[in-house]
Amino acid sequence: MKKKILVTGGTGFIGSHTVVELQNAGFEPIIVDNLSNSSADVIDGIEKITGVRPKFVELDCNDMPALRALFLEEGNIAGVIHFAASKAVGESVEKPMLYYRNNLVSLLNIMDLMNEFGTKGFVFSSSCTVYGEPDVNPVTESAPVKPALSPYGNTKQIAEEIIRDASVAGVGYKSILLRYFNPIGAHPTTFIGELPNGVPQNLIPYLTQTAMGIRKELSVFGDDYNTPDGSCIRDYINVVDLAKAHVKALDRMLKDESDVALEVFNLGTGRGVSVLELINTFEQVTGVKVPHKIVGRRAGDIEKVWGSVEKANEVLGWKAVETLGDTLKSAWEWQLKLREKGLM
Ligand code: WQD
Repeated sequence: MKKKILVTGGTGFIGSHTVVELQNAGFEPIIVDNLSNSSADVIDGIEKITGVRPKFVELDCNDMPALRALFLEEGNIAGVIHFAASKAVGESVEKPMLYYRNNLVSLLNIMDLMNEFGTKGFVFSSSCTVYGEPDVNPVTESAPVKPALSPYGNTKQIAEEIIRDASVAGVGYKSILLRYFNPIGAHPTTFIGELPNGVPQNLIPYLTQTAMGIRKELSVFGDDYNTPDGSCIRDYINVVDLAKAHVKALDRMLKDESDVALEVFNLGTGRGVSVLELINTFEQVTGVKVPHKIVGRRAGDIEKVWGSVEKANEVLGWKAVETLGDTLKSAWEWQLKLREKGLM
């Protein structure tokens, strides 16, 4: 009997790639999503990759009666991976109440039901954004959490505190917080990838759309930072590598390998890459030019942040293996597929 894993936000970018890896690892993922920022077509893509169509239930995690009914219907849900949340930094500044309600009420609902129905492992999708501008890079899990620069980032910090307090008080499940750095790329089959709504806020989708000619020019937000080439530095991690880390985290809890109720792991490559370096790498590996210009800094941008990943390497037995070049190639091949399908 395959262990059932509830994947909230499972039709999203990281969620869908994680569903694939859960199936590959012999789990039975059940996708829950309200499709507010994704499409059910993603399920077709997952089925094309693994040959198995995951169960999909369209519902909002803020809808407690519907969520409870799902737990009742499914019976023994061994683990939950909680991706479902609003995640646009800029939008969160304009609509803070939507972000606090959506991101926190959904979490509280999930936590209550896991406790009530005997779930054993809880993986929470957190973000390096909790570190703000680190004092030292690479930033370790013991670095101080800094005041959030946006309501979105604050919901991640508050969520971590809620999970921590519940773990200390004693709940029936173990929790692992995964702090992602910058997830990029697409599945090598190009059957799933990042589907941004409207004008992309994040660098890679905007870059590939510019390379495709959909956008006229990529604006590089500042080259006057205290970095080697003046542009911001981030830790760009391949989305498939990131997805595999979720399976490792789940395994650790379901096999009772940790005797602590809560653990935190950075998920990155351990290497910082600047915006200009990334553009140059993309052009090298694809042979496609990316028209770009330097403009002013973007409000709220961190100057440089990349992760220390020793803990995940040693404790989870996980390491990011895809190169930046191959990852950028996968993003480009995904963009070409979207064009081929007339979606972009
Ligand atoms: C990366 C770098 C920009 C666009 C945010 C959230 C984080 C996570 C990922 C959800 C920065 C530069 C970008 C552009 C540019 N979100 N850039 N021109 O801001 O590091 O992280 O998205 O989980 O929590 O904080 O990602 O891709 O927006 O920016 O120069 O058109 O690219 O200045 O240095 P960011 P990003």
